[in-house]
Amino acid sequence: MQDPLKQSFLKDINDISSIQELVNLKAKYIGKKGIITEKIKNLGRLTPEERRSQGKILNELKGFIEETIKNKEEELKQKEISEILKKEFIDITLPGKDFYFGGSHPVNKTLLEIIDIFRELGFTVEEGPEVELDYYNFEALNIPKDHPARDMQDTFYVSEDVVLRTHTSPVQVRVMENKKPPLRFISPGKVYRCDSDVSHTPMFHQVEGLMVDEDVSFSHLKGVLVYFLRRLFGDIPVRFRPSFFPFTEPSTEIDIGCIICGGNGCRVCKGTGWLEVLGAGMVHPNVFKFAGYPEGRYTGFAFGMGVERLTMLKYGIDDIRLFFENDIRFLRQF
Ligand code: FA5
Ligand code: MG
Repeated sequence: MQDPLKQSFLKDINDISSIQELVNLKAKYIGKKGIITEKIKNLGRLTPEERRSQGKILNELKGFIEETIKNKEEELKQKEISEILKKEFIDITLPGKDFYFGGSHPVNKTLLEIIDIFRELGFTVEEGPEVELDYYNFEALNIPKDHPARDMQDTFYVSEDVVLRTHTSPVQVRVMENKKPPLRFISPGKVYRCDSDVSHTPMFHQVEGLMVDEDVSFSHLKGVLVYFLRRLFGDIPVRFRPSFFPFTEPSTEIDIGCIICGGNGCRVCKGTGWLEVLGAGMVHPNVFKFAGYPEGRYTGFAFGMGVERLTMLKYGIDDIRLFFENDIRFLRQF
């Protein structure tokens, strides 16, 4: 009676290969309605003698089954773990994938450098809108509608009275309308002109600067801008050339000795040995008038520079369009 049952159990457990099957097997023999359980329940129908001998056999068998199932469970769990380990093996000796950190755009790098230098000189940073009123971009800067200077900058018109600002100079007037001297700020930002070749793009960056107080003179202009250029480019020659802007008088354009050829003359400086880097001048009295400042009380200087231009000189880049193509091979060099 014991043997066939034990044998059928041993055969059953031999065929098992998963925990779920083992659970079912356990239920089949020693679960609530298992074969062994039923037999034990029925012991009461036997004579006291039979009950004793059968009881002993059944109890031993039950113990054996429990023990065997426990061992099998342990064995299956180990098998499962080693299969997972095999499947999820990571070879930590394989070389890793290369990846690159992002970096600052070269134009932005120059811009931050410019801002840092002026901050040290006590200049604050102001901003103005890129979509600008004709009034601030031209009129209030002493450039009336019929003024020939409007042709100096090819303008994108949004409507008759609204333009994409062609320079950062309108910020001068916007700030002066709201603040009283002493003023000392720069204003970096994007500007737009209908213009495109190796040294011109339709969008580019300028940094405007303005310093206004009761006794600001041309020598302040000179001191600040020469200092700035030498901080940015090192110990280079600087020269001031007479020029014209409607919003400054007198006006000047500032050149540095060509940093490509050292002043001997090359393709970049068109053989002159000099490179134009800044427009500047003393604020025109009409601009103070438009800003609502009392006549004759204040003087000041203003300047403006092209950030792409300075970046090209700093890094020896000969085509401005490279900045905006976003070719990752170009950008990675900075
Ligand atoms: C001006 O825009 C004046 N507002 C500067 C100024 C400010 C003078 C304050 C006096 C007082 P200009 O048009 O020259 O000036 O432009 C200044 C600089 O912008 C140029 O020297 C050049 O570096 C840069 N620039 C002009 N057009 C382009 C363009 N299409 N693409 C890239 N850079 C440009
Ligand atoms: Mg110019």
